[in-house]
Amino acid sequence: MRPDEIITLDGPSASGKSTVAKRLARALGIPYLSSGLLYRAAALLALSRSEHQKEGIEEGALLKSLEARSIRLVPDPLGNRVLIDGQDRTEALHTQEIDRVVSQVARLPGVREWVNRRLKEVPPPFVAEGRDMGRVVFPEARYKFYLTASPEVRARRRTLERPQAYEEVLQDLLQRDTLDQAQSLPAPDALVLDTTGMTVEEVVAWILERIRD
Ligand code: DC
Repeated sequence: MRPDEIITLDGPSASGKSTVAKRLARALGIPYLSSGLLYRAAALLALSRSEHQKEGIEEGALLKSLEARSIRLVPDPLGNRVLIDGQDRTEALHTQEIDRVVSQVARLPGVREWVNRRLKEVPPPFVAEGRDMGRVVFPEARYKFYLTASPEVRARRRTLERPQAYEEVLQDLLQRDTLDQAQSLPAPDALVLDTTGMTVEEVVAWILERIRD
């Protein structure tokens, strides 16, 4: 692998992207970028705006607050962190409330443009994990992977991370799949891997083999 190279890892919710990206980056000794965390940070800001309760999300006002605040994605190899105005808010980004509003926020073109700009500021090499990393943000990336798994397997994985019952997680996930559809397409030159029935170790080994080939 050359030092200026980018690896993209895309896929639907709970397809194992984050865990695999983290392990892959560690194996290669390079950082990884969790683009979903930036969308989650934008969702947190949208939720904290009192207007949201009454009028829904107003894109112009949200974009203004994204520009006004200092929002930093720290590509820590052990787990990306998000600092908002210097404060680590990572823990606040993985809640049921954020899960339910983040797709709406991620559909706003201005928000996508804001996230993509932040990601492109980062010097390679890195593993970029999210939705349209291979197709839209880093079309020049040499290695592109797209992970899938059945909704049932993904819901089971997510149930381990949320204080919610399996059935509720599955319903939320199916709804989010529909909302995220437009930005969830694989790049035409991505290698697609169905991880249903595979362990994280097997997925990472499969990807490393392709990179080393
Ligand atoms: O990967 P995640 O579940 O943390 O992503 C959170 C949300 O952000 C998800 O609903 C899809 C959206 N997202 C996106 O649209 N584009 C990305 N590159 C990453 C995430």
